[in-house]
Amino acid sequence: MNKIITIVCSCIFFLQHLSAQTLTDKDRKTIDALMSKMTIEEKIGQLNQLDFGMDVTGPTISKDVEQKIKDGKVGSLLNAYTPAVVRKLQDIAVKETRLHIPLLFGNDIIHGHQTIFPVPLAMSCTWDMPLIERCAQIAANEASADGLNWTFSPMVDITRDPRWGRVVEGSGEDPYLGSRIAEAMVKGYQGSNLRSDTSILACVKHFALYGAAEAGRDYNTVDMSRLRMYQYYFPPYKAAVDAGAATVMTSFNEVDGIPASGNKWLMDTVLRKQWGFKGFVVTDYAAINEMTPHGLGDLKDNVVRAMNAGVDMDMVGEGYLSYLKESLQPGKVTMQQIENACRRILEAKAMLGLLDDPYRFCNDERAATVNLATNHRQVAREAAARACVLLKNANNILPLQENKTIALIGPLADDKKNLIGSWHDYGDWKNAVSVLEGIRNQQGNNVRVLYAKGCNLVEDDHTIKVLNESGEGLEKDSRSIQTMLDEALNIVDKADIIVAVLGEAKGMTGEAASRGDIDIPENQKDLLKALVKTGKPVVLVLMNGRPLTLSWENDHVSAILETWFGGLEAGNAIADVLFGKYNPSGKLTQCFPLTMGQIPVYYNHKHTGRPFNDTSLEKYKSRYFDIPNAPLYTFGYGLSYTTFNYSNITVGPSQLKGNQKMKASVIITNTGKYAGEETVQLYITDTVASVTRSVKDLKGFKKIFLQPGESKEVTFEITTEDLKFYNEKLEYIWEPGEFIIHIGTNSNELKSAKIVWASP
Ligand code: BGC
Repeated sequence: MNKIITIVCSCIFFLQHLSAQTLTDKDRKTIDALMSKMTIEEKIGQLNQLDFGMDVTGPTISKDVEQKIKDGKVGSLLNAYTPAVVRKLQDIAVKETRLHIPLLFGNDIIHGHQTIFPVPLAMSCTWDMPLIERCAQIAANEASADGLNWTFSPMVDITRDPRWGRVVEGSGEDPYLGSRIAEAMVKGYQGSNLRSDTSILACVKHFALYGAAEAGRDYNTVDMSRLRMYQYYFPPYKAAVDAGAATVMTSFNEVDGIPASGNKWLMDTVLRKQWGFKGFVVTDYAAINEMTPHGLGDLKDNVVRAMNAGVDMDMVGEGYLSYLKESLQPGKVTMQQIENACRRILEAKAMLGLLDDPYRFCNDERAATVNLATNHRQVAREAAARACVLLKNANNILPLQENKTIALIGPLADDKKNLIGSWHDYGDWKNAVSVLEGIRNQQGNNVRVLYAKGCNLVEDDHTIKVLNESGEGLEKDSRSIQTMLDEALNIVDKADIIVAVLGEAKGMTGEAASRGDIDIPENQKDLLKALVKTGKPVVLVLMNGRPLTLSWENDHVSAILETWFGGLEAGNAIADVLFGKYNPSGKLTQCFPLTMGQIPVYYNHKHTGRPFNDTSLEKYKSRYFDIPNAPLYTFGYGLSYTTFNYSNITVGPSQLKGNQKMKASVIITNTGKYAGEETVQLYITDTVASVTRSVKDLKGFKKIFLQPGESKEVTFEITTEDLKFYNEKLEYIWEPGEFIIHIGTNSNELKSAKIVWASP
């Protein structure tokens, strides 16, 4: 029966994928007819995307946008939304150009459109694919009503360096989990049919390796072996392409010495030939122009490089518009290349149904109904609660008791501007719920909450200046540091427990927001130290967009709840978690380093020839002598208000051959007082291979919900697909031998069993 269901589901998925990507005969005829009438200039115009500027998402500002549309020089716009604005601009394209070709409207709908969900890193900590898909679907529903038909999401860049500000936009460090999330998001945005009113094009970005910028500094050099690319960094992009992502965005960085936007190996050999990608490729913001400061000559040369690489659309840089035509004469690019790019863009327009009805995404009535709909906000609340990761809970201090007096302290405790995180273009912080409001909404008079800000979010003038330069609007309180601290200590006196809501300003993560120090800002740490010194128990509620260094906090506070930037409903959701209405179940998707010196630190590292086990005193080992190798909190880690006991693992058969399958099971028992959810994780170690392998790799996970005292058996089916890796020749294969199967609650606490898998 299960088999039949699996086959039926795969067929449905295949058909959905197919229909999302399928053009009708009528579409093809329309495109052929259009292309036969188009001049070279009109074809090149389709390859040009301009920024309408309703948001600032890059340093270049497009000029004379409306005139250029009229002149047939624009195929797409970004940063233009609302039905009125889109209708006005679409009107120009449809009514005032010779061939009436509608525009594509793209935008960064990264974690919701008007209903802002938790930031992507937070969403990844839910390990909940249906929820992630649902949030993408809601985002598409709202955005499409507001005139948009293309999102620059999912961002699937694997990253191992929390200094990089854009970790907030991705799904952490693991290729397997990252791939599942990439698929879920593409399915959510594009739905089963791009012609539906509520579906939009997805754009997987940033292809490729953007998350590996050296030293975590944004836009910095990337250099890695092809084996590492294929094994760890490529899988999520490929998964998004396999799931039918209609478009791909290039990355700013170089790959093997050539910036991605001019990299033929990447765009043509890997993306189109090896992976069979059929959609169109857009550059990142002015990325063709940026090949000049990269050191690859002038814009003319780089336009040629990009076109030869197979890049179809030029975001904002206008290089194609300026130099593509003149590059035809000396034969540096061919008419066929321009035609191919133009056709791919027209195909995307056709698949969206825009060639039949250019205004189908401008629906004032629907925009008014769907945006911020009650059920969307409910999903946002659920997501924000599920994204919370409980990092510490000494003496079960959480959940909070209702009859206690709480001192709610911190610059983020009654904040709305920051908790929506970066990339919330059309989301309005005024619609957000702060933690103070959330607690009051939920508890009314059940608990006494005394609130004090305690300190500024950031005290350091230079940081404030930098953040305000990009519009963060940070202000310092008119009161002195001491006055704010005294006010906080004063209310602590009257309280039973302290809840400190601290973290980063939202502008400290996101694009161009790398940090060289990933502690909570120093002035907030001073406040925390003063609170700890009072001797009252401290619950630290964190809002931030990257793993932080928390070893002092871990040693000194009673509980730590990582809530990330939880979106519009963060306050309500955090109240749900703090008071036990929701038992936290989030699991980290990126390691939290013990100190900055460990970075990059990630669970699926290699063994090295001198492995170190963190306890021996031996000198000639791969170790630091002053700090351990292990992170403070590892990948997959996250506590619950209850406890789960894992039985030993049973495997069967443990001796296999060829394409046989095996099963690995554990019995999990809820041994605590609360009902709760656990994410059961499967890892595999390949003990001997022809190339060095990770100490272990995530290969599966399952979520189960258990009542107190309840037990459930969780079984994973393992096939040779789960053993595969890229060998020296970059072939994706498995090799017979001994493997260790691990199942557990995080990447470090695991039950393990050996198996032997022989060749056929
Ligand atoms: C970012 C992209 C984004 C684009 C358009 C760039 O600066 O790197 O992620 O999609 O701007 O806003």
